[in-house]
Amino acid sequence: MISLTGKDPARLSVDALVVATAERDGAPQLLGADWLPESLRAALSSDARALGITGATGEVRRVPATGLSARVLVLTGTGTAAPDAEALRRAAGAATRELAGVGSVALALPADDVARVAAVAEGALLGAYTFTRYRGTATSASAASPVGEIQVVTGLAKDKAAAAALDRAQVLAAAVHAARDLVNMPPNELYPAALADAARTAAREVKGVKVTVLDEKALAAGGFGGILGVGQGSVRPPRLVKVTYAPSRAHGHVALVGKGITFDSGGLSIKTAEGMVGMKSDMAGAAAVLHTVLAAARLGLPVAVTGWLAVAENMPSGTAQRPSDVLTMRGGTTVEVLNTDAEGRLVMADALVAAVEEKPDVVLDIATLTGAQVVALGDRVSAVMGSDEVRGEVVAAADRSGEPFWPMPLPGELRAGLKSQVADLSNIGERFGGMLTAGIFLREFVGSTPWAHLDVAGPAFNSREPHGYTPLGGTGAGIRTLLALIEARAGR
Ligand code: BES
Ligand code: MN
Ligand code: ZN
Repeated sequence: MISLTGKDPARLSVDALVVATAERDGAPQLLGADWLPESLRAALSSDARALGITGATGEVRRVPATGLSARVLVLTGTGTAAPDAEALRRAAGAATRELAGVGSVALALPADDVARVAAVAEGALLGAYTFTRYRGTATSASAASPVGEIQVVTGLAKDKAAAAALDRAQVLAAAVHAARDLVNMPPNELYPAALADAARTAAREVKGVKVTVLDEKALAAGGFGGILGVGQGSVRPPRLVKVTYAPSRAHGHVALVGKGITFDSGGLSIKTAEGMVGMKSDMAGAAAVLHTVLAAARLGLPVAVTGWLAVAENMPSGTAQRPSDVLTMRGGTTVEVLNTDAEGRLVMADALVAAVEEKPDVVLDIATLTGAQVVALGDRVSAVMGSDEVRGEVVAAADRSGEPFWPMPLPGELRAGLKSQVADLSNIGERFGGMLTAGIFLREFVGSTPWAHLDVAGPAFNSREPHGYTPLGGTGAGIRTLLALIEARAGR
């Protein structure tokens, strides 16, 4: 499916050959493509303006492959003439995404060191994704399948480290694709028990991973009042899924907690029709956690990783929780539910308590937690809050992985807004700074365990337009960052 090649790109018999173009004075500048026949270079430079090709970031254009063995030459824009790893990822991904339906693609982007080979491979694989599971015969013909065969052209085709980077890219992309699939699943089919089953099925293929599922009876016995309270309005009961990877010589233990609301209607504090669209993606944190644990196991990282998926469907009904209900969470803290649409923090609180009971070295939670995250940072930049050290560790891992994460504070004065008249805590606080208040709520449940909270409400689901290697729908946000953090703890 993906391989490295050291062959002359001009002689590769592929359906599409991709080269990078930078933008210089509004015209495209070929990047490291001195092997292109002189006649083709001349034609491109004289015709680029007329063809409207600029080399701008995100631009993908097909031109005739005159004099090449490839069927078509594809120019993918990097903007800058000195693209960093993430710019290469995006340019490679934009190309494979736009080339969906094409059988074989070779990418001759500047990939002269292992980091660049990795970036091109990752971007190409991340961009080669489509979700067609629910297309019937009437529409399947128009829905292209992702690029089949990918070759990365590099002088390092025989290099061991480059081969290892390629293996890692495949594991990483498989994790992201699988998480996207779960997020894209319709909520009538992906209800809590179905998500738990999907976790079991996915883990069966990975050596050394164990899945335990707590059903509603076990949740009641264990005192998981938050997950039960949120789930009680649905005819499809909630679950807590534990995914364990415990290698024999582990450098420490990382716990991951993911929000798994398979559909968020808001409950009795019901959302508007508009506000409910896209709420099938409210389990993206759980999907990211599941596939991060599996990827860590596939890579054989010497770190123990425990994933906790807090799974429920938030529905209004005669059995739904009411505003003013008081829940007793795992560990005994009581919470007055003043808004049933602030359900994520309720399920996360229970799962965080369960996670820290095992005394991991660090706990990271990831959730599509607040609309306020989208207001603050938009739909491409995620937020991270928590103890200073872990928050910094997440930002550093995000920077290495190419995912945008921005550090946010947990201002002490917002804690007062979470006081309840009747219980230990209320589940909503002041209107302004809603993302931070949600973080402060979660902090109440992690005790002294080093912790960070990742709010991916915007970036987890793309409802606007595809870009770079990011498709419409589920994106897999957070997986690359979490994996990079675990790798760093593994000493890799
Ligand atoms: N799942 C939503 C947050 C969300 C909003 C995710 C938009 C993705 C896009 C969450 O459960 C929610 O409804 N949060 C409320 C909290 C409020 C009631 C305190 C919100 O942000 O409006
Ligand atoms: Mn909600
Ligand atoms: Zn929600």
